[in-house]
Amino acid sequence: MERISKIVEHPYPIYIGEINAFDFEHFQQIIKAFSQVVIIVDENTKKYCLPKILGIPSFRTAKIIELKSGESTKTIQNAIDIWGKYTELNLDRNTLVVNLGGGVISDIGGFSASIFKRGLHYINIPTTLLAMIDASIGGKTGVNYKGFKNQLGVFSDPEVIFIDIDFLKTLPKRELYAGFAEIIKHALVMDPELWEMIIKISPEQIYNQHEIIKRAVFVKSNIVNSDPLEKDIRKILNYGHTIAHAIESYSLNNDKNPLLHGEAVAIGIICETYISVIINGLSNEKANLIYNYISSLFPIYYIDNNIIIELLSIIKQDKKNRNGKVNFTLISEIGKALIDNNCNESLISESIHFYTSLYKK
Ligand SMILES: NC(=O)c1ccc[n+]([C@@H]2O[C@H](COP(=O)([O-])OP(=O)(O)OC[C@H]3O[C@@H](n4cnc5c(N)ncnc54)[C@H](O)[C@@H]3O)[C@@H](O)[C@H]2O)c1
Repeated sequence: MERISKIVEHPYPIYIGEINAFDFEHFQQIIKAFSQVVIIVDENTKKYCLPKILGIPSFRTAKIIELKSGESTKTIQNAIDIWGKYTELNLDRNTLVVNLGGGVISDIGGFSASIFKRGLHYINIPTTLLAMIDASIGGKTGVNYKGFKNQLGVFSDPEVIFIDIDFLKTLPKRELYAGFAEIIKHALVMDPELWEMIIKISPEQIYNQHEIIKRAVFVKSNIVNSDPLEKDIRKILNYGHTIAHAIESYSLNNDKNPLLHGEAVAIGIICETYISVIINGLSNEKANLIYNYISSLFPIYYIDNNIIIELLSIIKQDKKNRNGKVNFTLISEIGKALIDNNCNESLISESIHFYTSLYKK
């Protein structure tokens, strides 16, 4: 395995490789430019990932801030508590914050760093697959508010991102698969070669698949760099997400063991692929490949008619809608996405029926 390589350079470098190898080449240079270093972790990344980071000489004297793991940590109150700790630590603007964790840590850690004293520098060391190929990249930071996801937030870029795939070895299998759903989406909207690569492996083989991670990072980074403030092209990343967000919200409110975001995305991709066939000319042959692949990786989530009615009402409130029309990103080929499609309710509901029928075969 190569020790370290740079996937992209601008607007900030993203490296992949063995994190200990970064030290001499990079960390010492980066860290000596800062007055203090703070590392934000949750209880799992403290246990599984922090020891490796603290083994790097440059980080030994860093202050550690621990948050509870999970989506419920992304609150404004936790951001206020972080600012309280920063004030107690007397941090100046030349402080470096290190977000060591999944998307929850990079979202709240990036947000709180960006607001404190009008902005501390921060870096992301993502430790989940989803954060490596998605959440840590693109400068969206934020917290949830009054039941709405990412209601408060700012666009703010990290100084650098370091991806060490080794961290995935302790990640629960369900989390790994959920992250893999976003790789599938990246391939479907932009990179047919990435699609050809992923269908040959199982998500559990990702540990040896630097090329797949690199390509997925490149797709996300390329898209967000073309449209950093989400005015147009960045919307292609919403493929599968209009229906996924409704299913995720429904599941969070109704299930004891709710779906993970990526699991909802997998369902959303199947439904929005079905819609892509009907209104965007995607061939049935390509669509069948997508249905078969995704349904072989993820177990069914049962959705009856009553749930569909609730999902439709959630979809109508989606923040991507404009002038009362539900906004979809759809594909016309594997690797080719089109933004701003409208779709009527009966087709949305038909696509969800199709999803459940797929598992009865
Ligand atoms: N900012 C963005 O552009 C963006 C994009 C996508 C998702 N997100 C956000 O990301 C969040 C989801 O991120 P996530 O899926 O990484 O979830 P997460 O951060 O909650 O991590 C998932 C679980 O894995 C644990 N974990 C993390 N790394 C581990 C490791 N190496 N070994 C063992 N356990 C580990 C965590 O403690 C947590 O329990 C959501 O809040 C979502 O809104 C943000």
